[in-house]
Amino acid sequence: MKKNKKNINPIWGSNFNKLSNPLLEKINSSIDFDKRLALQDIKVSEVHSLMLKNKKIISLTEYKSITKGLKKIKNLIINNKFVFKRSHEDIHMNIEMELHNLIGDAAEKLHTARSRNDQVVTDFKLWVIEAIKELSQKITNLQKTIINKSGLHINTIFPGYTHLQSAQIVSFAHHLMAYYEMLKRDKDRFLKSIDRINECPLGSAALAGTSFDIDRVFTSKKLGFKKPTSNSMDSVSDRDFALEFLSNVAICGSHLSRISEDITIWTNDQFKFVTLSDDFSTGSSIMPQKKNPDSAELIRGKMGRFSGNLISLLSIVKGLPLTYSKDLQEDKEPVFDSYDNLITSIDVIDGIFKGLKINKEKMKNACNNSNLMATDLADWLVMNYKISFRKAYKMIAKLVKIADKKNCQINDLTDIELNIIGNDSGLKIKKFLKIDNSINLKKSLGSTSPKEIRKAIASAKKDLN
Ligand code: ARG
Repeated sequence: MKKNKKNINPIWGSNFNKLSNPLLEKINSSIDFDKRLALQDIKVSEVHSLMLKNKKIISLTEYKSITKGLKKIKNLIINNKFVFKRSHEDIHMNIEMELHNLIGDAAEKLHTARSRNDQVVTDFKLWVIEAIKELSQKITNLQKTIINKSGLHINTIFPGYTHLQSAQIVSFAHHLMAYYEMLKRDKDRFLKSIDRINECPLGSAALAGTSFDIDRVFTSKKLGFKKPTSNSMDSVSDRDFALEFLSNVAICGSHLSRISEDITIWTNDQFKFVTLSDDFSTGSSIMPQKKNPDSAELIRGKMGRFSGNLISLLSIVKGLPLTYSKDLQEDKEPVFDSYDNLITSIDVIDGIFKGLKINKEKMKNACNNSNLMATDLADWLVMNYKISFRKAYKMIAKLVKIADKKNCQINDLTDIELNIIGNDSGLKIKKFLKIDNSINLKKSLGSTSPKEIRKAIASAKKDLN
């Protein structure tokens, strides 16, 4: 590629008389981040040149030379020997210029019947599909850890909360298996999005398609897509796949942040339900007694960037005229950032769970309050005395009020106070109010009964295999 006399960009600078302002290079160059698309870009070029050769748009000799050059570049990149240049703007031009260095003018044929506009979105879609597969594998690992932990704690009783107020007694495994379900939806959301991403934009060229008789079905298939996109203008403008990815990351990130908040609360002095292993905690530089759950707090905090990245790309595409505008170059950093941070967050949560010490006694002590069985008791009255739930609710509410006044729990009330529905009901109620028994009373599908939890764990194990 001949440099023009003023050393202006040899790819697009033919009609330019003045060298780019260094500030333009600063704002225009994307190589520092889009080099992450290098291997996708090479794959796209390999397939594109093969199609050009098959369709006799380039010669066999040119094709061979392009392929050889691309292979060399790929090796340089894999071995970290490729020199990325800001002056070459982006990954597409860095590779094309290097190809020119290596093979000479045949490199100029590669860009026949394509534009950077369809090239970048094809590369990016391939990258996002890979990222989704990677993320779903990580989610599976975390789900396995959760299942293993759950299996150990089916009979560990734990105070379930609503409004962060102790509500009803549950099994700790049931709480953990709730996380499993959240992650299952996350993975499903990611994987199902592939079906929409899976259309190949290559060959849409700048926006209008091309007058070359190219074979888009061939390139689409070779690159592993389901089919080519249908409208060349939509193809180069569309960033829905990136938005969907960011949105799925944000939803998954919100789950991780809720899990982290639970863990943070459980490690708190007033709870002490769990102890984080030393390798996921930090100390304080001033308070020697401190052991802080920084790992969980950081994951909770990552949600800031997950939602920020989604809003960022939504704001970029909002109001953009069809078709390609350079604003779209801003699409990559939020996606890379969300991906990197989600991968790390999942790994860290996995590590936290693996090393988490469960303080069963503390959990049980927190359940040692028969008021947590108030709902169980109301159900029991309905079943045994054939009264309406509303009536039973009011009766128990009265008991709770009396107990509150006496600063005790309902099972501390006297038999006479508990004789709310016949003379022997007090005794029976006292017998009924055994906290260990609460989870065994549950019958409904998806409840905290050990039988249901075993079923849930078994079906989760089957799902993951
Ligand atoms: N680096 C550009 C991007 O990421 C590639 C496409 C450039 N297209 C153009 N018409 N300038 O969007």
